[in-house]
Amino acid sequence: MSRFTVNNLPQEYRLDPETPLLWALRDVSNLTGTKYGCGTGHCGACTVDVDGRAVKSCQVTIGSLEGTFVTTIEGLARDRSHPVQAAFLAAQVVQCGFCIPGFVMATVALLRQNRDPSEAEIAAALNHLCRCGIYPRLIDAVRQAAA
Ligand code: FES
Repeated sequence: MSRFTVNNLPQEYRLDPETPLLWALRDVSNLTGTKYGCGTGHCGACTVDVDGRAVKSCQVTIGSLEGTFVTTIEGLARDRSHPVQAAFLAAQVVQCGFCIPGFVMATVALLRQNRDPSEAEIAAALNHLCRCGIYPRLIDAVRQAAA
């Protein structure tokens, strides 16, 4: 059994401890805002927050998360959009939308660590894959969220 907190609720997953966090979130907790893109740690669509850091949930096992605090896109904000989500909307970042939860979670973690990231720092932190080519609008949104 693996015990940790997801979106401020204690969870007990009775799964193989080697199960990737991505599948516990999606298949057991029904938190399907966390997306499966590649499963190999390259695309970033599965990014969640673990103890304040952006983590690709396909690359971390639930057995390694004992006692941690995980936040998914569903737990980021309650009654209104998180400021990063609001900035993404204002900059009209979203095209198909599939990769957006991962970008939002990575942006939140970036701005928590660095309130004024350079374009190079943004690009390094958000090195996810997006087939729609949202990158220029994404940079604008991160700058708006940081302002
Ligand atoms: Fe995890 Fe692509 S699904 S990085």
